[in-house]
Amino acid sequence: MDIRSQFPVLNQQVHGKRLVYLDSAATSLKPLSVTEAERQYEQEYCANIHRGVHALSEKATLAYESVRTQAQQFLNTRSEREIIFTSGTTQGINLVAYSYGRKFLKPGDEIWISSLEHHSNIVPWQVLCQEIGCILKVIPLGHTGDLKFSKKSKLLAIAYASNALGIFNPVQDWIAQAKAHHMAVLIDAAQAAPHIQLDVQKLDCDFLVFSGHKIYGPTGTGVLYGRETLLEQMPPYQTGGDMIEHVNFEKTTYAKLPAKFEAGTPNISGVIGLGAAIEFLFSPFEKGGLRGISDYAKQRLLEIPGIQLFGDVPEKLPIWSFLLGDIHPHDISSIIDQEGVAVRAGHLCTQPLMKLLGVPALVRASLGVYNTREDIDALITALYKVKQVFRC
Ligand SMILES: Cc1ncc(COP(=O)(O)O)c(C=O)c1O
Repeated sequence: MDIRSQFPVLNQQVHGKRLVYLDSAATSLKPLSVTEAERQYEQEYCANIHRGVHALSEKATLAYESVRTQAQQFLNTRSEREIIFTSGTTQGINLVAYSYGRKFLKPGDEIWISSLEHHSNIVPWQVLCQEIGCILKVIPLGHTGDLKFSKKSKLLAIAYASNALGIFNPVQDWIAQAKAHHMAVLIDAAQAAPHIQLDVQKLDCDFLVFSGHKIYGPTGTGVLYGRETLLEQMPPYQTGGDMIEHVNFEKTTYAKLPAKFEAGTPNISGVIGLGAAIEFLFSPFEKGGLRGISDYAKQRLLEIPGIQLFGDVPEKLPIWSFLLGDIHPHDISSIIDQEGVAVRAGHLCTQPLMKLLGVPALVRASLGVYNTREDIDALITALYKVKQVFRC
């Protein structure tokens, strides 16, 4: 299978140049199978789910619920009841902060995060801390070895891998330490999900979140895995239709898992598209090639005089963040955009990490399964144009 032919969006020119898409860590492109699955639902069996007793509704419900089975297998959860569909990683973390946090955390309890977290795994905990008097603790950048957990340490919420640098947190080690202190653990797998085989039982985490749009699926979709014993005790995050058992004006009882956490009409076409994306991830194309192209990107970037790579470690995701001399990242990205090359530049939703690195911003080139060595060559040629413009 020619992988690029699955991504029609690549068949275009930008500013008169062949499009080179190197922004997959922000959102990956969507293969035909995903958009076709969504189209089929919208055009051929569009109906609301769980409620109707007519053919289309039953078909839509079956399609939606079969994605839960796929997600359960994708994450190796113990049961489908542990799979909650969300609008993405951000909503998943907010759900846990709101529901788990307000139920189980007390004033003085510590929530631990790492230094390289995305804002969406910082701000919900800060808000929770302000509200109930918890304390946010940050693991220093590059920390290895023992963490200073105490009896007050109640939750560890960490990214599997950094969206800004592509490097991994030592998740397995930190989870083991957290578990020794009876802490709950949330893993933000937004960046890991497209590249790493995830297994929540092996990880021994209590919550894990990811976004559909970073695994070649639709925007506005995502999954929260939660340990069933915890989800059972947690109050609903949002309330309304579909999450109830009985409603009367005096009192409402809630539906069982997972419906308790899926109030209202969900993103049905999106979830069906997410199922196609999970299937795509498991399709037999040559994923190993991406590693080679990522290594090639590093080698070619390092040929450029004045380049400074960040997060250059042997084992990492295909994400390369860099500075070029003292040229501002926004200038770099605008100039190379004129050459058809799409990268991201800025604080990458990790302002605290930028501060620790002592930089205002970075340029980030991130790869997906559709990238080729020619794409990397185009990036390098475009970066030499930047040097020409700035005469450096
Ligand atoms: C590590 C990480 N966490 C969380 C998020 C937020 O994901 P979303 O915007 O899909 O909710 C991102 C998105 O870039 C991310 O890379």
